[in-house]
Amino acid sequence: MNFKTKSISLAFALVAVAPLSAVQAEDAVIAQSDTINVASVSAVNTFNRNLKKETNINAAPSEDGIHDPANDSTHVLQPPKEAFSGFVTSKFGNYVDWVKTLEEGKINPRWDRINPAEEAFVMDMDIVREVKSSVPDVIFPHRQHTEWLACANCHPTIFIPQQNANQFNMSSILLGKDCGVCHGKVSFPVTTKSCGLCHSKPKPADWEPPMSQASLKNPWK
Ligand code: HEC
Ligand code: HEC
Ligand code: HEC
Repeated sequence: MNFKTKSISLAFALVAVAPLSAVQAEDAVIAQSDTINVASVSAVNTFNRNLKKETNINAAPSEDGIHDPANDSTHVLQPPKEAFSGFVTSKFGNYVDWVKTLEEGKINPRWDRINPAEEAFVMDMDIVREVKSSVPDVIFPHRQHTEWLACANCHPTIFIPQQNANQFNMSSILLGKDCGVCHGKVSFPVTTKSCGLCHSKPKPADWEPPMSQASLKNPWK
């Protein structure tokens, strides 16, 4: 774009902006800052080394940017670092291995808000999702999930309860859908250190990448 066309489009932009009322202009500013917040607040899945790393992990409520430090009640809340002490640690997320912490009986979460005697309905059923690329296949374990969650947390809204009836991939997960509805938000995130937790089934020794019909007909040599 040369200088002349640039100044013309700038002039157009000024004309377009000028008739906006004060209220409209304010809306536009709010809408813009909302979009910015969505990107920065959800520190979801910041495995990409180009993205900023969170520095103050498990910050106290008054410093976590979520709770209002000016509110006295914020300071009554127990800081996560204190609450998590003695738990089994992990290398990502909030640095707690919640599955092992539960298994080792270090916590005893209440299953039902009202009835303290209600127990989890744990179902031990692994679902294998074969991945077309060379990474290990994904094992979705029902056991670890149903220790924390009810069937209805996933079925049928997030996943139709039928193997391979749902289509998902890393992109949808990183965008917060499918496994990403929880992973990266309330359960361990996608980081370079967590790939193996989901991709846990090694490919068979004779595995070869699937080829398209075109490359099968005209193999490139
Ligand atoms: C954290 C989410 C989640 C929870 C909680 C969950 N499931 Fe699933 N379930 C899945 C996923 C993912 C699949 C695989 C879907 C696919 O491959 O497309 C699946 C598959 C299934 C299938 C199909 C199995 C097959 O061989 O086709 C059944 C049946 C099922 N779940 C029942 C249950 C029951 C019963 C519960 C509660 C005890 C439960 N699920 C809890 C995520 C969940
Ligand atoms: C409704 C929420 C939810 C969804 C959806 C969900 N998970 Fe989970 N997942 C959890 C929770 C909660 C845990 C236990 C806490 C943790 O490990 O962070 C867990 C644990 C796991 C574990 C066990 C890790 C271990 O240490 O043993 C694996 C593997 C896993 N999820 C994979 C998946 C995959 C793959 C999908 C998508 C097919 C998925 N999850 C969808 C909530 C969910
Ligand atoms: C929360 C579980 C989870 C984690 C963590 C995870 N993946 Fe995945 N990944 C999946 C699932 C589920 C699929 C889709 C499997 C299928 O096709 O059914 C997938 C698919 C893939 C694919 C195939 C292409 C695609 O997008 O479908 C690649 C490559 C991949 N993952 C790489 C990685 C790498 C690298 C990491 C670590 C940075 C990682 N994954 C971490 C669950 C996970």
